[in-house]
Amino acid sequence: MTETATPGADPVRIGAVADFDVDSARRIDIDGHRVAVVRIADDFYAIGDQCSHADVSLAEGDVDTDELALECWKHGSLFCLKSGEALTLPAIRPVPVYTVTVDGDDVLLGLGTEEASR
Ligand code: FES
Repeated sequence: MTETATPGADPVRIGAVADFDVDSARRIDIDGHRVAVVRIADDFYAIGDQCSHADVSLAEGDVDTDELALECWKHGSLFCLKSGEALTLPAIRPVPVYTVTVDGDDVLLGLGTEEASR
């Protein structure tokens, strides 16, 4: 399922905590951004959904809870959920990192603070 909203500078609610399965990723399409939102236990991470190696959705890959990374299902590159860095080949470029916070039961995504680690 995809969601749409019109974010301003403030974080945008993308759902409730219970909407996100534990140890899995979910793609959110919002204001032209493709974001992979990952929940590990009660921690949330958000990185660009498009693999930097090819146009593949990272949210369709597996979450590596030990490495805090998301694995591209196509060729296996791991992307760090904290920095967006490509940890393994063949991808070499990072993906954007987004700020995701939890406020009570709400999961909030900050699009204005998007950044790439390098
Ligand atoms: S498309 Fe993601 S590693 Fe190749």
